[in-house]
Amino acid sequence: DEKKLKKYYIGSIDQGTTSTRFIIFDGVGHPVAQHQIEFTQHYPHSGWHEHDPKELITSVEQCIEKATQSFIDQGHDISDIKAVGITNQRETTIVWDTNTGEALHNAIAWPDTRTKSLANKLKAKDGADSLQNLCGLPISTYPSSVKLLWLLEHVEAVRKAYDEGRLTFGTVDTWLLYHLNGGKEKNILVTDATNASRTMFMDLYTLEYDDKLLDFFELDRNKLTLPKIVPSSSPDAFGALTSGLLKGVRIAGCLGDQSAALVGQQGFSPGSAKNTYGTGCFLLYNVGEKPVISKHGLLATVAYHFGGERKPIYALEGSIAVAGSGVKFLMDNLGFITHSHKISDLAATVEDNGGCVFVTAFSGLFAPYWIDDAKGTIFGITQFTERGHIARATLEATCFQTKAILDAMELDSGHKLAELAVDGGMSNSNLCMQVSSAGHLYNPCLEAYCQSSTQTQANLIGIPVDRPAMHETTALGAAIAAGFAVDIWKEFGELKEINQKGRVLFEPNMTKEESSKMFKKWGRAVEMCRGWVD
Ligand code: G3P
Repeated sequence: DEKKLKKYYIGSIDQGTTSTRFIIFDGVGHPVAQHQIEFTQHYPHSGWHEHDPKELITSVEQCIEKATQSFIDQGHDISDIKAVGITNQRETTIVWDTNTGEALHNAIAWPDTRTKSLANKLKAKDGADSLQNLCGLPISTYPSSVKLLWLLEHVEAVRKAYDEGRLTFGTVDTWLLYHLNGGKEKNILVTDATNASRTMFMDLYTLEYDDKLLDFFELDRNKLTLPKIVPSSSPDAFGALTSGLLKGVRIAGCLGDQSAALVGQQGFSPGSAKNTYGTGCFLLYNVGEKPVISKHGLLATVAYHFGGERKPIYALEGSIAVAGSGVKFLMDNLGFITHSHKISDLAATVEDNGGCVFVTAFSGLFAPYWIDDAKGTIFGITQFTERGHIARATLEATCFQTKAILDAMELDSGHKLAELAVDGGMSNSNLCMQVSSAGHLYNPCLEAYCQSSTQTQANLIGIPVDRPAMHETTALGAAIAAGFAVDIWKEFGELKEINQKGRVLFEPNMTKEESSKMFKKWGRAVEMCRGWVD
C-alpha cells in the first residue's frame, strides 16, 4: 500500500550527454532529493564531440553525495534506500586498458561525426546491407562500432593495447559500473541489453555478441574485452557502490536513457510510444516481443529486458540528434539568450517563423533521413528575419523531424499512433532546477519550453501530446528497473498510479492544410541541406 511504499527509496543515476543527475525516489515515484551537475563538453574540431571519462565518474560521485546529504538533511534514513538504478547517454564509446582500468582516450560522444568517411567506407563493404537485419541499426556515424574502429585506426595507444590483448571497450553504463562498483577487483564488466543494442555488435534476437557482426568490423575477440550482456533489471549482476554515503547499496537496474524514459512513461504495452526532448530527441515505439526491422529509416532496438521469466521487449526508434543542443547553440554560440529557458520568450516575440526553416543538422541528419553529410542550414532568411524567428525555427526543427519519424513509424508498423507521451527538457541548467514547496522537483525551464514546443508538436503531428507532471521520467525508469530487481514492485500494474496526477494533454489546434504546408517546406529544406563538403 501507498504508506508502506513511501518508506522505500531508490536512487537513480542519470548520466546524460550534457549533465549528470542523481535523484532519490520514494516507492510511489516521487523524487525527494536530487542533484545535477553540468560537465565539460569538448569539441576539439568541427564535428568532434568528446567527454572526459574521469569527469563522468566524478560528476556521478558528486551528485550521489549531494543528493544523499539532502536526503539525510530532510530526516530520512539511508538504510531505507533499497537499491540504485543507472541510466546513461547511449553509443558514447570509451576504451580502457584492461590491466590498469585507465581510459586510453576521451569518450567519443554519440553526436560526434568524425567517422563520416569511415562510415561511408563501411557502407560500401560486402555484407554491409545485411547488418541491420541482425543488429537493428544501419551503418552511420552514430553507433559505437564506428567510434571504436576510429579509435583503433587513429590512436596509437588504443591500437597497441588491442594488439597486446589488453583493450576493453564499454559504453557509459559499463564504464561507470566498472569504476563505481569496484569492477576491476570484483570482475564486474557488464552492460545491459538496451545499451548493447546500440553498439552493432549484438544479435537482437539472442541478445549475445555475434561473430558475423564482429567479423564485419574486423574485431578479434581474443584481443578485445567486451562487457557481458545482462538484463536491465537484476539484483546481483551490477554489484554495489564501493564508496561514499551509499557504500554497499546495490545497483540493481541499468538502461540506456531512452529505454529508461519509455519505462518511466510506463510504455509497457505494444503500440505505446514516448518522445524525449533532451540534448537530442528520441521517439521509442513499443513493438512487443519481436523486433521490427525498419524499412523507412528507423532503428530496431531493445526497449527493455527485465529478466527472469520476462521476455525482452523491443522498440522502433526515431533518433533526432539535435533538440536541446539547438537551444544551447543559440545561447552559447550565437548569444541569442542568456538562459535556455528564455528560448520560449524569444520565440514568443514573433507570431510565427516568418518563413524560416532551420535544419539543425549539426551531426548530419539522423532519422528517418540518415544524411551523414548534411550540415545545419537556415533557409528563408530575409531582411525581415529576427532572432525570434530563428528561435522558433530551432524549436520547430525537432517537431518537424518528429513528424517525419511518426510517418515512418506508421509505414513500418502499419498503425497510426493515437497519442504521443512526451518528456525531457531542453534545458540542463542547474539554476533552473528547483524544489517546490511540496518537495517535488519542478523545472521552470522545461515548463516554459514545453508550453510552446509541445503545442507546436501537437499541431504538426495532428494527435494529442501527453505530458506528465514530473518530467524526470528517464531517472524514474532506471529506478523502476532497480525497484523490480529488489522486489519493491513485482508487476507493471502496480506502477499504474505513478506520475499520473497533473498530466497535461495538448490537443492540436491547427488545420491540416496549415500543418502540411509547413511540413512541405521542411521537406524541401531537408533536400537542400544534403551534400556539404568539408
Ligand atoms: O542516443 C543518445 C541518447 O541516449 C542521448 O540522450 O537525453 O542525452 O539526449 P540525451
